[in-house]
Amino acid sequence: MRLLYIASEMAPLAKVGGLADVMGALPLEMHRRGHDVRVYLPAYGRIDAARFPLVREPGLGEIDVLLGAQRVRVTIALAALPGTGLRVHLVQCPGLYDRPSVYSNDADEHLRFLALSYAALEACRQSDFVPDVVHCHDWPTALVPMILKTAYARDPVLGRASSLLTIHNLRYQGIFPASIVAQTGLAGAVDRFHQDQLREGRLNFLLHGILYADGITTVSPTYSFEIQGPDHGAGLDGLLRSRSSTVVGILNGVDYGEWSPERDPIIPFRYGPDDLSGKELNKEWLLGKLGLPYVAGVPLLGVVSRLVGQKGLDLLAEVAPGLLSRLGFQLVVLGSGESRLEELFAQLQHAFPRQVCFYRGFSNELAHGIEAGADVFVMPSRYEPCGLNQLYSLRYGTVPIVHRTGGLADTVRLWDPRTGEGTGFPFEQHDAAGITWGIEAALAVYRNRPAWRRLMLNGMTQDFSWSKQATLYELLYSRQSQR
Ligand code: ADP
Ligand code: GLC
Repeated sequence: MRLLYIASEMAPLAKVGGLADVMGALPLEMHRRGHDVRVYLPAYGRIDAARFPLVREPGLGEIDVLLGAQRVRVTIALAALPGTGLRVHLVQCPGLYDRPSVYSNDADEHLRFLALSYAALEACRQSDFVPDVVHCHDWPTALVPMILKTAYARDPVLGRASSLLTIHNLRYQGIFPASIVAQTGLAGAVDRFHQDQLREGRLNFLLHGILYADGITTVSPTYSFEIQGPDHGAGLDGLLRSRSSTVVGILNGVDYGEWSPERDPIIPFRYGPDDLSGKELNKEWLLGKLGLPYVAGVPLLGVVSRLVGQKGLDLLAEVAPGLLSRLGFQLVVLGSGESRLEELFAQLQHAFPRQVCFYRGFSNELAHGIEAGADVFVMPSRYEPCGLNQLYSLRYGTVPIVHRTGGLADTVRLWDPRTGEGTGFPFEQHDAAGITWGIEAALAVYRNRPAWRRLMLNGMTQDFSWSKQATLYELLYSRQSQR
């Protein structure tokens, strides 16, 4: 099949969260399977040009994207992903993409991702790449299905392409004032927009993706049900219910090439299910690096996260002082985001300088170090479409404590001391009692070394590889392309 991916993030070129991990793995897996794959991503100014040299795509001139009165001129460059044989198509337009971060709050945010969407489609058209399926991701590329069904409906190259929208997070919808309709390139098809929304003065990108995509997926089965109800529907549950037969939950996979303690080049001591000894050495190394004392037998809890309301870490900060005093564990938190959350963890470190380290920022090295060195991973998300860090934690023998929601519910099974089965500690209620139960239950098992070892091994031998999950996408692509 010919598969076209358009997205705002892709590891290792540009990463904010898990969308980048998915984009760094799924297209590659399809390429390995022999499909003809193209990926389009903005050429963000922050992409490391020394690591990923760009070459202008041969045979393709400048592309003019007309967005109302605005003419956006882009060029397409290719960046090789070393060792993969896949080249990523980067949409160059410094005026739009040379910003300090992938996403901005700038007034032209909609133009940045509309330009990406049109440039990708135009570049395919001009180079005669006839996609069977166009796979777009989250709000930034959610207008693509509507663009295909209006502007390109009769196009010989793109007219027959089927569109698939993956919702990685329903809360980020890309909502702009209705006045930007004139800049969507679809002003001639104003009647095709959601009219009530326009009357209310809004244009919601994700909503139009849900309306127009031929297929819709979310990143775990449980989340695909949750978003069709009012609690997690973020105002779009009615619309999702109306397209219920099209909404499919496919769990994300893990790139075990990058996230495996047996071959992780980033961590100092490699280990695996057959020999766990390296894990304790990584812990000692990690604590040293963080400036915390290492004391054998004291459990280390880890967090790697964007610090936003979704992740529920305010709950951890709330119960931590009492539990740190009473249970004596150590805690490392890596993340950045909302200042109120950063402040909570900075205060916690200040109050417990020998037990807590808060590392504010983004560090892939430290993320790997925490997966390898911590004993327990804490993920108390209020909602979680899939979640990747609990999957990495399972592989690294870092037992997850999670709120039982979305992808966390689908991937972490409760430890049962009677049968010796289960992989972690999902707690039911998102409140202080819930997370306290999770932490106490985990630490009680931690003191029972044979049981803990069994629990670690249960997690380490789970298989959440992309090779399994990609087969589900492949089936979907092939079903869609035969419509
Ligand atoms: P989300 O996409 O909602 O942030 P996921 O669990 O799906 O959550 O994916 C998060 C990804 O981002 C993981 O690969 C995680 O390791 C990474 N990550 C998050 N915060 C940081 C950070 N501060 N430093 C390094 N990596 C981070
Ligand atoms: C989103 C979700 C996360 C998911 C990731 C990749 O950022 O918050 O749960 O794992 O996308 O699909």
